[in-house]
Amino acid sequence: MRNLSVFTLVVLLAVASAVPIAAVAELPLATDAKLVKRGKVLWLQCAACHDLAAAQTSDENEDIPKKIGPNLAGVIGRRAGTLKGYSYSEALGKSRLVWGSSTLDQWIEKPAVLVPGTSMVFIGVPREEDRRAIIAYLESVTR
Ligand code: HEC
Repeated sequence: MRNLSVFTLVVLLAVASAVPIAAVAELPLATDAKLVKRGKVLWLQCAACHDLAAAQTSDENEDIPKKIGPNLAGVIGRRAGTLKGYSYSEALGKSRLVWGSSTLDQWIEKPAVLVPGTSMVFIGVPREEDRRAIIAYLESVTR
Protein backbone atom coordinates (compact mmCIF):
# COMPACT_ATOMS: atom_id res chain seq x y z
CA MET A 1 0.00 0.00 0.00
CA ARG A 2 2.77 2.38 0.90
CA ASN A 3 4.33 2.05 -2.52
CA LEU A 4 1.09 2.59 -4.34
CA SER A 5 1.12 5.94 -6.09
CA VAL A 6 -1.88 8.20 -6.05
CA PHE A 7 -2.10 7.67 -9.78
CA THR A 8 -2.33 3.88 -9.41
CA LEU A 9 -4.98 4.36 -6.77
CA VAL A 10 -7.04 6.60 -9.02
CA VAL A 11 -6.76 4.12 -11.90
CA LEU A 12 -7.77 1.23 -9.64
CA LEU A 13 -10.76 3.14 -8.35
CA ALA A 14 -11.79 4.08 -11.87
CA VAL A 15 -11.59 0.44 -12.93
CA ALA A 16 -13.55 -0.67 -9.88
CA SER A 17 -16.26 1.88 -10.54
CA ALA A 18 -16.60 0.70 -14.12
CA VAL A 19 -17.20 -2.92 -13.13
CA PRO A 20 -20.94 -3.52 -13.18
CA ILE A 21 -22.35 -5.07 -10.05
CA ALA A 22 -25.13 -7.56 -9.67
CA ALA A 23 -28.59 -6.44 -8.68
CA VAL A 24 -29.40 -5.90 -5.01
CA ALA A 25 -28.27 -8.92 -3.02
CA GLU A 26 -29.71 -10.13 0.26
CA LEU A 27 -27.79 -9.67 3.48
CA PRO A 28 -25.26 -10.78 4.50
CA LEU A 29 -23.38 -8.98 1.79
CA ALA A 30 -20.24 -11.00 2.40
CA THR A 31 -21.74 -14.04 0.67
CA ASP A 32 -21.73 -12.14 -2.61
CA ALA A 33 -18.26 -12.99 -3.92
CA LYS A 34 -18.36 -10.46 -6.74
CA LEU A 35 -19.33 -7.64 -4.41
CA VAL A 36 -16.59 -8.61 -1.96
CA LYS A 37 -14.01 -8.67 -4.73
CA ARG A 38 -15.00 -5.22 -5.86
CA GLY A 39 -15.00 -3.97 -2.27
CA LYS A 40 -11.45 -5.18 -1.83
CA VAL A 41 -10.30 -2.81 -4.55
CA LEU A 42 -12.41 0.06 -3.25
CA TRP A 43 -11.00 -0.61 0.22
CA LEU A 44 -7.66 0.80 -0.97
CA GLN A 45 -8.97 4.31 -0.34
CA CYS A 46 -9.54 3.35 3.29
CA ALA A 47 -6.27 1.43 3.60
CA ALA A 48 -4.35 4.70 3.39
CA CYS A 49 -5.56 5.39 6.94
CA HIS A 50 -6.66 2.01 8.31
CA ASP A 51 -5.10 -1.39 8.94
CA LEU A 52 -7.45 -4.31 8.72
CA ALA A 53 -5.49 -7.40 9.69
CA ALA A 54 -5.28 -8.19 13.39
CA ALA A 55 -1.54 -8.82 13.27
CA GLN A 56 1.42 -7.66 11.20
CA THR A 57 -0.07 -4.22 10.88
CA SER A 58 1.36 -0.85 11.86
CA ASP A 59 0.12 -1.47 15.42
CA GLU A 60 2.11 -4.67 15.72
CA ASN A 61 5.11 -4.01 13.55
CA GLU A 62 7.39 -1.02 14.05
CA ASP A 63 8.69 -1.32 10.51
CA ILE A 64 5.31 -0.36 9.11
CA PRO A 65 4.50 3.34 9.51
CA LYS A 66 1.66 3.92 11.93
CA LYS A 67 -1.62 4.82 10.25
CA ILE A 68 -3.84 7.75 11.19
CA GLY A 69 -7.05 5.80 11.72
CA PRO A 70 -7.88 2.96 14.14
CA ASN A 71 -7.31 -0.69 13.18
CA LEU A 72 -10.58 -2.02 11.75
CA ALA A 73 -10.03 -5.73 12.40
CA GLY A 74 -13.29 -7.01 13.86
CA VAL A 75 -14.99 -3.64 13.45
CA ILE A 76 -18.41 -5.11 12.57
CA GLY A 77 -20.42 -5.37 15.74
CA ARG A 78 -17.95 -3.18 17.62
CA ARG A 79 -19.07 -0.11 19.48
CA ALA A 80 -17.70 3.06 17.87
CA GLY A 81 -14.68 4.66 19.45
CA THR A 82 -13.74 1.78 21.73
CA LEU A 83 -10.54 0.23 20.36
CA LYS A 84 -8.07 0.33 23.25
CA GLY A 85 -4.98 2.44 22.72
CA TYR A 86 -6.44 4.57 19.93
CA SER A 87 -7.12 8.20 20.63
CA TYR A 88 -10.55 8.95 19.14
CA SER A 89 -12.23 12.30 18.74
CA GLU A 90 -14.55 13.18 21.58
CA ALA A 91 -17.42 13.21 19.08
CA LEU A 92 -16.99 9.59 17.99
CA GLY A 93 -16.30 8.44 21.54
CA LYS A 94 -19.63 9.85 22.65
CA SER A 95 -21.59 8.74 19.58
CA ARG A 96 -22.89 5.44 21.06
CA LEU A 97 -22.93 3.96 17.55
CA VAL A 98 -22.43 0.26 16.91
CA TRP A 99 -20.85 -0.65 13.57
CA GLY A 100 -23.16 -2.68 11.35
CA SER A 101 -24.08 -2.41 7.67
CA SER A 102 -26.46 0.50 8.20
CA THR A 103 -24.22 2.64 10.45
CA LEU A 104 -21.20 1.89 8.27
CA ASP A 105 -23.13 2.91 5.18
CA GLN A 106 -24.01 6.29 6.66
CA TRP A 107 -20.50 6.72 8.03
CA ILE A 108 -18.64 6.15 4.79
CA GLU A 109 -21.15 8.19 2.84
CA LYS A 110 -20.29 11.28 4.90
CA PRO A 111 -18.52 10.71 8.22
CA ALA A 112 -18.88 14.32 9.35
CA VAL A 113 -22.64 14.25 8.79
CA LEU A 114 -23.17 11.12 10.89
CA VAL A 115 -20.73 12.29 13.57
CA PRO A 116 -20.12 16.04 13.46
CA GLY A 117 -16.67 16.75 14.90
CA THR A 118 -15.13 13.41 13.91
CA SER A 119 -11.42 13.38 13.13
CA MET A 120 -11.97 11.09 10.11
CA VAL A 121 -11.27 13.67 7.45
CA PHE A 122 -12.65 11.82 4.48
CA ILE A 123 -14.92 13.15 1.79
CA GLY A 124 -17.04 10.03 1.67
CA VAL A 125 -18.05 7.42 -0.89
CA PRO A 126 -20.95 8.93 -2.86
CA ARG A 127 -22.14 5.83 -4.74
CA GLU A 128 -24.35 3.48 -2.79
CA GLU A 129 -23.13 0.41 -4.67
CA ASP A 130 -19.53 1.32 -3.86
CA ARG A 131 -20.40 1.58 -0.18
CA ARG A 132 -22.18 -1.77 -0.31
CA ALA A 133 -19.09 -3.34 -1.86
CA ILE A 134 -16.76 -1.90 0.78
CA ILE A 135 -19.06 -3.09 3.58
CA ALA A 136 -19.31 -6.55 1.99
CA TYR A 137 -15.52 -6.73 1.93
CA LEU A 138 -15.31 -5.60 5.56
CA GLU A 139 -17.86 -8.25 6.53
CA SER A 140 -15.93 -10.91 4.66
CA VAL A 141 -12.65 -10.19 6.43
CA THR A 142 -13.93 -9.45 9.91
CA ARG A 143 -16.14 -12.45 10.43
C1 HEC B 1 -7.72 10.29 5.76
C2 HEC B 1 -7.74 9.15 6.63
C3 HEC B 1 -8.93 8.24 6.61
C4 HEC B 1 -9.54 7.63 5.53
C5 HEC B 1 -9.17 7.78 4.06
C6 HEC B 1 -10.56 6.77 6.07
N1 HEC B 1 -10.59 6.87 7.42
FE1 HEC B 1 -11.83 5.87 8.69
N2 HEC B 1 -11.07 6.88 10.27
C7 HEC B 1 -10.05 7.80 10.21
C8 HEC B 1 -9.86 8.40 11.52
C9 HEC B 1 -8.84 9.46 11.89
C10 HEC B 1 -10.82 7.79 12.36
C11 HEC B 1 -11.10 8.12 13.84
C12 HEC B 1 -12.27 9.10 13.83
C13 HEC B 1 -12.60 9.75 15.16
O1 HEC B 1 -11.99 9.44 16.19
O2 HEC B 1 -13.49 10.61 15.14
C14 HEC B 1 -11.56 6.83 11.55
C15 HEC B 1 -12.57 5.99 12.02
C16 HEC B 1 -13.20 5.03 11.27
C17 HEC B 1 -14.15 4.08 11.79
C18 HEC B 1 -14.60 3.95 13.24
C19 HEC B 1 -13.74 2.88 13.92
C20 HEC B 1 -14.02 2.69 15.38
O3 HEC B 1 -13.22 1.98 16.02
O4 HEC B 1 -15.03 3.19 15.90
C21 HEC B 1 -14.56 3.29 10.75
C22 HEC B 1 -15.55 2.16 10.79
C23 HEC B 1 -13.86 3.78 9.57
N3 HEC B 1 -13.05 4.82 9.93
C24 HEC B 1 -14.01 3.24 8.31
C25 HEC B 1 -13.42 3.76 7.17
C26 HEC B 1 -13.66 3.24 5.84
C27 HEC B 1 -14.52 2.04 5.50
C28 HEC B 1 -12.96 4.03 4.98
C29 HEC B 1 -12.91 3.98 3.46
C30 HEC B 1 -14.16 4.13 2.79
C31 HEC B 1 -12.24 5.02 5.78
N4 HEC B 1 -12.56 4.81 7.10
C32 HEC B 1 -11.38 5.98 5.28
C33 HEC B 1 -9.31 8.13 9.11
C34 HEC B 1 -9.61 7.76 7.80
